[in-house]
Amino acid sequence: VAERILITGAGGYLGQRVAQTLVRRGHPVTLWIHADDEATAAVKRARLTPAFAGREHLVRWTWGALEAPEPFQGVEPGSLAGIVHAAAIYRFDIDADTARRVNVAGTRKALDLATRCPSLSRFTLVSSFYASGLRAGVIPEEPLAFPPDEPFTNEYERSKYMSEVEALARPEVPWQIARVGLVVADDASGHVTQHNAFHYCLKLFHAGHLAHLPGDPETRLCLVTGGFAAEALAALVTGADARQVYHLIHDTAHGVPLREAIELVWEVFQQDPAFVRRGLAKPGFTDLAGFERELAPLAGSRNPVTAHVLGSVATFARQLFARKEAGNGRLVAAWPSYAPEDQHALVGQTAAHLVRTRFGRNRSS
Ligand SMILES: NC(=O)c1ccc[n+]([C@@H]2O[C@H](COP(=O)([O-])OP(=O)(O)OC[C@H]3O[C@@H](n4cnc5c(N)ncnc54)[C@H](OP(=O)(O)O)[C@@H]3O)[C@@H](O)[C@H]2O)c1
Repeated sequence: VAERILITGAGGYLGQRVAQTLVRRGHPVTLWIHADDEATAAVKRARLTPAFAGREHLVRWTWGALEAPEPFQGVEPGSLAGIVHAAAIYRFDIDADTARRVNVAGTRKALDLATRCPSLSRFTLVSSFYASGLRAGVIPEEPLAFPPDEPFTNEYERSKYMSEVEALARPEVPWQIARVGLVVADDASGHVTQHNAFHYCLKLFHAGHLAHLPGDPETRLCLVTGGFAAEALAALVTGADARQVYHLIHDTAHGVPLREAIELVWEVFQQDPAFVRRGLAKPGFTDLAGFERELAPLAGSRNPVTAHVLGSVATFARQLFARKEAGNGRLVAAWPSYAPEDQHALVGQTAAHLVRTRFGRNRSS
C-alpha cells in the first residue's frame, strides 16, 4: 500500500516543517529539494538531515528545479499516497515572467506528476490567503473565479491565484487548496526565522523611516505561525477530503485590526532604549500615495537588501487597504485538533523578538 508523502520545497520554511511533522508521526516521506545538480542537492541534504535524526529510515531524498522540463524525474510515482506542493518563489517583488515560469508552470508540472501516481489520494497545493488579490469583503473557503483583469497586490499573489486555477482545471487529481495566512513567527514565542513584508515594515518603523503606515486602520491581517501552518498541512494531506479549499487562517473576526497592531508594536518598541532615544512620534495612517512619497528617499538605495525590503513592503502595502472577512470552518471540521492562536499576543511577541534580535542581526537571541 502506498503511504509515502512527497513534499516539494522540502528545504524551504514550510516544507521543512511539514516534513518534520509527518516524520515525527511516523509517515514515510520523499523530500524534493530545490537544486540544479547533485552537488548542490548534497549540500542542502547535509544541512537538512540532522532534523530527522533517529528517523532517517522514513526519509528519501530527491531534487530538481521547477523550471526544468521534467523536474520530478527522480520521484517514484507508485510509492506516493500524498503530495504537498510547497515549492515556489515566495517573494513579493518577483516579476511576472518568473512568477509564471516557476510558481504557475511549476504547479502544472507537479499536477502532471500527480496524474502519474496510481495510488495518490491527496495533492495539497500550498496556496496563500492573499491569492484572493485585492478583493475586500467575504472571501469564501471555496474556489475563486476572477475575471482576467482582476487586480492583485503583486505578481507573487497573482501567481498563487493562477496556481489554484491550474489545480481546479484537473478534476482527475485529488487536489486540496490550502490557503495559508501570513506567517509572522515560528510559534507563539514570537521567534522569527523567515522575514517577510510584515517584519520589514516593522523594521522601517523602528528605524524611524516611517512617520505613517499604509492601510485602513480597520483592516485585519490574517496572521498565523509556521507551526500552525505545518500542522494543518500535515493534517490535510493525511486525512482531509480532496477537491476542497481550506483556509489555514483563524476566523478574521478574531484578527488584529492594523490600528491595534500598531498600538501593540508601539508598546513593545517603547521598552527599547535605542528606539526611545530616537524620540519618534507614534505613526499615523496614510493613503498609498502618501506612503510611497515616504519611501521615496530610500528608493535610490543600491544596497540589494534595502531594495528587497522596499520592494516587498511597497508591493504588500496595497493589501492593507482591502478589508477581508473570512472563516476557516472547513479547516476546523477537517482537523479535530485545530486550536486558534492568540494573534494579539503573537504581534507583541513577534515585535519583542525582532527588537531583541535587532531584526535578525543577532540570530541567536
Ligand atoms: N510563509 C508564508 O507566510 C506563506 C504564506 C502563504 C503561502 N505560502 C506558500 O507556502 C509555500 C512555501 O513557502 P515558504 O514560506 O516555505 O517559502 P520558502 O522558504 O522560500 O520555500 C519555498 C521553497 O521552494 C523552493 N523553490 C524556489 N524556487 C524553486 C524552483 N525554481 N524550483 C524548485 N524549488 C524552488 C525553495 O528553494 P530554495 O530556497 O533553495 O530556492 C524553497 O525550498 C509557497 O508556495 C508559498 O507561496 C507561504
